[in-house]
Amino acid sequence: MRITFCCTDTAPEPWLAGLRAALPEANISLWEPGAPQADYAVVWAPPQQFFDEQTQLRALFNIGAGVDALLKMRLPAGAQVIRLDDAGMSVQMAEYVCHAVIRHFREFAGYEADMANGKWSFRKPHSRLDYPVGVLGLGVLGERVARAVAQFDFPVNGWSRTPKDVPGVQCFAGPAQLDAFLQASRMLVCLLPLTTETRDILNRDSLSRLQPGGYVINVARGAHLVDEDLLALLDSGHLAGATLDVFRVEPLPRSHPFWNHPKISLTPHTSARTLRTESIAQIAFKIGALQRGESVLGCVDAARGY
Ligand code: NAP
Ligand code: GLV
Repeated sequence: MRITFCCTDTAPEPWLAGLRAALPEANISLWEPGAPQADYAVVWAPPQQFFDEQTQLRALFNIGAGVDALLKMRLPAGAQVIRLDDAGMSVQMAEYVCHAVIRHFREFAGYEADMANGKWSFRKPHSRLDYPVGVLGLGVLGERVARAVAQFDFPVNGWSRTPKDVPGVQCFAGPAQLDAFLQASRMLVCLLPLTTETRDILNRDSLSRLQPGGYVINVARGAHLVDEDLLALLDSGHLAGATLDVFRVEPLPRSHPFWNHPKISLTPHTSARTLRTESIAQIAFKIGALQRGESVLGCVDAARGY
């Protein structure tokens, strides 16, 4: 069995060493043009030449959860695309979103500014019943996030394509229930995959339906959000703020108005990082299962887009 590794912006040696330790029977190498045909590939943002040459792949392991960029490429017919299925990401996403929700709800940014100015003063406590949190996407990450936020006694709503039943979460599904979901939510978390259906979903119309004083947390993909619509609703006061981890162009260009907006908190696409040890263990386990003819979790449906 031959495995090829082609991950842009990733130091290959620790990955190759980890994969070789986990799969000692496999021939594992860093891809280079003209390399022999492999059975499996471990990829992140490979060049198109990689797929044009590696035509015999049985499966591609994407070392991330989102496959939007991969699905835009010409992929070898017959190669199953497999995304990371949690692999240590959901707990990071839960930490990130709970932090953003609580930081806004408890006004910690205001307290930090006050204390930095030598000011000892209290703000009126809010009722969490007035801060319902809506999670767009109830998949591997969204469900974990929704459950984590519910642990802090916030009312939690969730929206997915197909109906779900998540304890502690009021579940909505499909386009017909999107408005009801938005109207029931004040803080909105985006954890959708980027597809033709979900691109630009955070726009003036949808964000206007959030309860007044709404707050947006985008941790999915930058192209879910229409940047100028967010800015307009922040400036009008309908939205109180936003925490953004992902952007249409990354790194976020220095001239972008998000950088200096007083109501926007930014992080550099770091809400849930790929963890090498967990990812290698998952990929090795799945290759073993595929070799035995078994099915695996995390198979992407290219027609659906995730
Ligand atoms: P997932 O398991 O595939 O879950 C996707 C969820 O979105 C599912 O609940 C799905 O509904 C729902 N969905 C998809 N299309 C929809 C539509 N048209 N209408 C309503 N709901 C729809 O994905 P995941 O692992 O949770 O990851 C979600 C995304 O997070 C990834 O695609 C990636 O872009 C992003 N991400 C970001 C970071 C970061 O560091 N910022 C890290 C990891 C992932 P069904 O359940 O009905 O199928
Ligand atoms: C990161 O954004 C991922 O999709 O894993």
